[in-house]
Amino acid sequence: MTLRRFDGRAVLVTGAASGIGRAVALRIAAEGGRLILADRNSDGVAETATSIEQLGGSAACLRYDALSDDETAAMVDAAISVYGGLDAVLNIAGVYHRSHFEALAPADWRRILTINLDSAFLIAQRALPALAGSGGNIVNTASIAGLDGLAYAAPYAAAKAGIVGLTKSLAAEFAHRGVRCNVVCPGRVITAIATSVQPVADARPDLLSRPPRLLGMEQGARPEDLAGAYAFLASDDARFVSGAELVVDGAVQVG
Ligand SMILES: NC(=O)c1ccc[n+]([C@@H]2O[C@H](COP(=O)([O-])OP(=O)(O)OC[C@H]3O[C@@H](n4cnc5c(N)ncnc54)[C@H](O)[C@@H]3O)[C@@H](O)[C@H]2O)c1
Repeated sequence: MTLRRFDGRAVLVTGAASGIGRAVALRIAAEGGRLILADRNSDGVAETATSIEQLGGSAACLRYDALSDDETAAMVDAAISVYGGLDAVLNIAGVYHRSHFEALAPADWRRILTINLDSAFLIAQRALPALAGSGGNIVNTASIAGLDGLAYAAPYAAAKAGIVGLTKSLAAEFAHRGVRCNVVCPGRVITAIATSVQPVADARPDLLSRPPRLLGMEQGARPEDLAGAYAFLASDDARFVSGAELVVDGAVQVG
């Protein structure tokens, strides 16, 4: 049986140009969702939209840069106007940065916090009136780095920990208005973020991130392996789930 949990629903996916965001957008479209794809990479979202159209779905593309408050707010407003409302926001855009903490420039700290955390605040604040109107929900993206910390990645881990706190606070504050808010915490996923990261000179190998333990997935998950987690949380199957952090890490954290 093919699931059709998003038939007719308007779903905004940020970070939809590649990796997890693209896989999630394709999954939601396959389940009948009407997509709004947002990213700073216009060519990438256009490719995602073409794939969705080949599936018989519909997708609108929006360009924004999460470093700009104005562009982020305008993107959400435009997303709401595409289909005249919003049923879910899947906030997946993000960047990674590695360096020795002592060499970290304040500008890099702020850039990572702005893209990964501040934009999630702005997107949620701007989208909440529409989501309250539709009984909609938000699915944010953290990382196991936000739960455990990660050597050589303090701003990334701090931003992702902030996303967890933001998500749980919104779940508490907006439950009475029928809006759910949850967060996915991926472990290693084989995408541009994971494969293009520059090694840190003189890094201690014992402090680098732990590999997944799950048989056959020791190198990491495919983006498609994350899509079901987002689709579940955004769907009515999760109608009693709010404030949850769903760890999808191939058994890194346990034991
Ligand atoms: N891949 C992993 O191992 C992993 C692990 C844990 C968490 N995550 C998180 O998953 C999310 C998706 O990452 P991914 O692995 O698919 O990587 P990815 O690089 O394939 O996707 C990230 C997307 O975010 C977009 N983006 C980056 N900066 C932006 C900006 N300033 N404005 C707008 N869009 C911007 C990129 O263009 C890209 O399409 C990120 O939030 C990341 O932190 C990834």
